[in-house]
Amino acid sequence: MKITVLGAAGGIGQPLALLLKLQLPPGSSLALYDIAPLTPGVAVDLSHIPTDVKVLGYGGEDASEALHGAQVVLIPAGVPRKPGMTRDDLFNVNAGIVKKLVETSARACPGACIAIITNPVNSTVPIAAEVLKKAGVYDERRLFGVTTLDVIRSATFVADLARLEPAKLDVRVIGGHSGTTILPLLSQLPVKFSEDEAKKLTLRIQDAGTEVVNAKAGGGSATLSMAQAGARFAISLLRGLSGGRAVECTFVADPKGRVPFFARPALLGPRGVEDLLDIGPMNAYEKQSLESLYGELEGNIKKGVEFAR
Ligand code: LMR
Repeated sequence: MKITVLGAAGGIGQPLALLLKLQLPPGSSLALYDIAPLTPGVAVDLSHIPTDVKVLGYGGEDASEALHGAQVVLIPAGVPRKPGMTRDDLFNVNAGIVKKLVETSARACPGACIAIITNPVNSTVPIAAEVLKKAGVYDERRLFGVTTLDVIRSATFVADLARLEPAKLDVRVIGGHSGTTILPLLSQLPVKFSEDEAKKLTLRIQDAGTEVVNAKAGGGSATLSMAQAGARFAISLLRGLSGGRAVECTFVADPKGRVPFFARPALLGPRGVEDLLDIGPMNAYEKQSLESLYGELEGNIKKGVEFAR
């Protein structure tokens, strides 16, 4: 398997590349691309770590060489938020970056699975879908928005409150990846919270990205936890592509849904998304939160589609 990271020299890209160098199956190759001139150096640096994963670095304006033959493309490229900004405020800069990188991917590795980390994910994934449609290579089973950070944060915060082992918790997080579009389904967990606790936890999960942005005080947004989330998603995707199975919540095309893209549990297999799984039971608070997130999510999706068209 060849995995390409676009934006590999950035704050997320570098730790993501490190985690992949350590965790990819033996014999894999990892191509690192970024316009930053240090990218080949990042690859040389990583290549000194003794795992059976070949690392190559590419710089310059054109990502094609890094993408040729890739089965999986991970895109963390783009600019991060500063305090006071929403993810949507990144649209003007990041939409163009994602569009260009997906256009190049559509030419260089048309059958690859593309997983987008670049914010605003609620809009960049629809942009990518339009670009792939235009290039005639769109397969909705092979395009993903990475929302795994919401899943791992939920596990961490729930475990803290309930004094459980976070690794044993699997929290379903549905909707999208910004503010109130992030909806953790806490009522499905074996641990029971009071209504007040559940509401506070939900708000913390929804605001967790902002918590990091504020704590970094102008120095960017989540990079290390996002890298861990991206690596977990990539490893699950690869497990599926190589004939195994994995389930991850991810922002994907939802043909039967109320909005065209929706984060939900997906069964990953050889074709990418093999099946969209049932969201499962929700309590009254979650049902009401779900109803009220559709409007914003739909607006984010439309904005991406209109930009790409
Ligand atoms: C996050 O959830 O931490 C990322 O989407 C980055 C951000 O801007 O919040």
